[in-house]
Amino acid sequence: MHCIKMRAPAKINLTLEIGAKRDDGYHSLTSVMSHISLFDELLVSKTDEGVIDFQSNAPYLKNNDKNLCVLAAKKFFELCGIKNAGVKIELKKIIPTNSGMGGGSTDAAAVIKCMENLFGKLDEKSRENLAASLGSDVPFCLTDTSAVCEGRGEKITPFSFEKKRIYAVVAKNAVKVSTSSVYADFDVNPVEFTGSHSGVVQALKDGDNEFLRKSMCNVFEKNIFAATPEVEKLRNKIYSLGAFASQMTGAGPTVFGLFEKRTDAENALEVLRKEKVVSYSAYIL
Ligand code: C5P
Repeated sequence: MHCIKMRAPAKINLTLEIGAKRDDGYHSLTSVMSHISLFDELLVSKTDEGVIDFQSNAPYLKNNDKNLCVLAAKKFFELCGIKNAGVKIELKKIIPTNSGMGGGSTDAAAVIKCMENLFGKLDEKSRENLAASLGSDVPFCLTDTSAVCEGRGEKITPFSFEKKRIYAVVAKNAVKVSTSSVYADFDVNPVEFTGSHSGVVQALKDGDNEFLRKSMCNVFEKNIFAATPEVEKLRNKIYSLGAFASQMTGAGPTVFGLFEKRTDAENALEVLRKEKVVSYSAYIL
């Protein structure tokens, strides 16, 4: 096999609790994360040229070590001691970047999966270490189900639930946030977690959307809302459009709304797009 096509899903954080800053500079966290049906698309092909080639519709993504796709392939070759093979990575970027939806991480995870298909599977430990070395969300992005993520994000407890489909609308305004400064701000202005991780897991399993809403919480919301009221406004707007729950994902600034009915999600999407808000509809995978 010489060429693998793969879709890389975005993620949302249904809960996010941040703990202390650790000696390695990262923060311990607990988060219930779910994949959603908003995908980047990757095509990874084996070449004989001994180089990693990268092409994308996103002009800001260059072929260098800051690019998580390129880095994932490079580290994969190093780990396996493969010296004379090459790959061409073609990425169609759809998930908005710097949005708290794990776009870079999910692309990196998809590259690892494609490389395994093309060159052979890594042992479990090497796979885990490779993923964690690329970013805190990459280990979750390697899973196929929702999960409770701990440590700096790399300790994954996957869980599945009987699917009562939950529709999501994700919306991002023009506000820019840097993940590391959001964490740094949190050290100065810590916020108490008022949700329940186990509550979210149980609510998903029971299909209890009211309990899901009550159990959700993202501790970064408070500081981001204070600094950039547009983000809170957008969350309130999504509530007003009929979401049973709405919350910021990750370190922001994207907010998502959850809907029981697909038509309600689609109506909300239409209103947001008319107001020129970059938004997408999807469902929890
Ligand atoms: O690992 P990742 O590249 O996603 O992290 C981006 C930045 O977010 C880190 O450089 C760090 O400043 C912050 N971070 C953190 N603790 C975590 C995850 C991320 O402090 N658990």
